[in-house]
Amino acid sequence: MLNIKKKDIMFTGIQPTGLLTLGNYCGTMCNWKDIQKKYECFFCIADLHALTTFSRSGSNKNSIKNNFSTAILDIAALYLSCGVDPNRSTIFVQSHVYTHSQLYWILSNFVYFGELSRMTQFKQKLSLTVNTPINLSLFCYPVLMAADILLYHTNYVLVGSDQKQHLELVQKIAHRFNSIYGNIFIVPDILILPVGNKIMALQDPTKKMSKSDKNTNNTIFLLENIHSIYLKLQRSLTDSDCSSSCIRYDILNKPGVSNLLSIFSCMTNKKISILEDEFKNCQYSIFKKKLSDVVCDTISEIQAIYFKLRQDEDYLIDVLIHGEKNALKYSINKLDDVFQILNL
Ligand code: TYM
Repeated sequence: MLNIKKKDIMFTGIQPTGLLTLGNYCGTMCNWKDIQKKYECFFCIADLHALTTFSRSGSNKNSIKNNFSTAILDIAALYLSCGVDPNRSTIFVQSHVYTHSQLYWILSNFVYFGELSRMTQFKQKLSLTVNTPINLSLFCYPVLMAADILLYHTNYVLVGSDQKQHLELVQKIAHRFNSIYGNIFIVPDILILPVGNKIMALQDPTKKMSKSDKNTNNTIFLLENIHSIYLKLQRSLTDSDCSSSCIRYDILNKPGVSNLLSIFSCMTNKKISILEDEFKNCQYSIFKKKLSDVVCDTISEIQAIYFKLRQDEDYLIDVLIHGEKNALKYSINKLDDVFQILNL
């Protein structure tokens, strides 16, 4: 009898808030094309997570076509432009698959208040918010991540290093549930890319590049004008230490150059040590020019595919409806198991 081994499952997601950044790209998306060869992949558009920072001013309103907002179609087109192959992988909108919010509630009974209070991202967001109330959802956010992941028999989760602590909590929740009810959930491994897993702000390389940064010179957006990207990289902060070997990877003493080397390595797939060698005797200005060229080339390619795909909304909607059906088919089995075991 033919014994066909099923591929392991990889799950990942991004919040569709604002425009995606070079950080999102280097931390995960640059690997999406290749990872589909190895694993069966689920790419989630995490719109329920995006509600945690939802503005009630009405500015989130945008046109809706068959349940798909402009923002969702933008992100779907960007996922595809970065190499997601809908014939091979599942790409879907989190809020369209009801199993996520149901498992979320169940899992919230298996997480402690203290554990969620220790989440660094939550603490950071809390410290930035003065005199405004904090949503409960912001606090519970990692539990929803646990539901997303555990519904799909996920073996691997690809994320940037800022999500590591959340993923460790997901592992803990799965272990805790399994220790009471038997092996219901697979405990997923965390996949963090060796380079690019934490891209830093261009003008302040001690903090993470983020789409919500008030200083837009800190962030490169994937759909930004190419000339503007070029200028931002040219103006990016390097380090004052201009000793013999200027272009070297040293996060502590040369955070600016180290960050640019990480970006260069992601764009070219060249090891950092090879790049250090290549630019050993170069001035910062030459290094930055080469870097700007490779970043702009890569992003131009993505944008060319994006703008073409974005015109065909019917195609994007078809892809998402197909993904939604597949995601539901997979996740409903796991939710049924959980309901049965809890006598629900
Ligand atoms: P989000 O939308 O904040 O970020 C999406 C992915 O991009 C990575 N990332 C970065 N990587 C390197 N450098 C940066 N500067 C940078 N900024 C962001 C993040 O680590 C992440 O991998 N909660 C998640 C979305 C999510 C999810 C999931 C992820 C929802 N459910 C299940 C994995 C599995 C989030 O807000 O990511």
